[in-house]
Amino acid sequence: MQVLGIDIGGSGIKGAPVDTDSGRLVLERFRLRTPEGAKPPDVASTVAEIVRHFSWQGPVGCTFPAVIRHGVAASAANISEAWIGVNVEQLFSEKTGCPTTVLNDADAAAIAEMRFGACKGRQGVVFVLTFGTGIGSAIFVNGQLFPNTELGHLEIKGKDAEAWASDRARKKRNLSWKEWAERVDEYLARIEALFSPDLIIIGGGVSKQADNFLPLLHTQAPVVVASMLNDAGIVGAALAAADRAMGLATSGTGAPPAPACASAEPVAPPSEQ
Ligand code: BGC
Repeated sequence: MQVLGIDIGGSGIKGAPVDTDSGRLVLERFRLRTPEGAKPPDVASTVAEIVRHFSWQGPVGCTFPAVIRHGVAASAANISEAWIGVNVEQLFSEKTGCPTTVLNDADAAAIAEMRFGACKGRQGVVFVLTFGTGIGSAIFVNGQLFPNTELGHLEIKGKDAEAWASDRARKKRNLSWKEWAERVDEYLARIEALFSPDLIIIGGGVSKQADNFLPLLHTQAPVVVASMLNDAGIVGAALAAADRAMGLATSGTGAPPAPACASAEPVAPPSEQ
């Protein structure tokens, strides 16, 4: 099956059609800048532009950097407060004319890592933590996602953990890798004390530079780097949408079918148009 995966980030919104059986991108990614202020109507128009770029007419999966409960945004740590209470699935489905599944960005990246990444099929308690503008978290127990965990907002030293240990915090405070790794170590120690994971996967923008900090961590559980890097969000969002189209609830949202729309066709991959 082919599904258009879209990843909404702080600086860019990117998408590509994904072959959900192999986890590969079918066409080259297309990226647009995230509109200034990232307000709902502007982001929805950008998402629609990506759909138009591929002349897409099938299911769409889209990441979102907030809690998404049954399609509705329920938090706004790094995005405009205007999103709270917005039915993002409905908004994007209407704007694009395609049935759209929306899920938390860390959950999407984790779905891709668990299905096609280095930890493919791994059982037990697996944590995926993404370090970028914020800290995203996803928990899998025996292959099943527990969605919307938001563990980037654990309190450490009286502060929101992501304000202290995200990659943005590293850049903003000009921390050395050693200084930053000490913070990440403390954050992971808290995660381990609370959840005893069997495996921790580090993803997000900083995972490309893992050699600089991975050897400095002292966790009990093994820590590995996400292997899908830039594509994890796009692929994971596409997988969640594909599962939903097939009546599965792998995205963990227990979601009913994506909002339908008059113009949506079954899957029509661009290569066959
Ligand atoms: C948000 C999460 C998101 C993470 C990574 C956090 O600030 O609360 O929902 O997954 O950033 O984007």
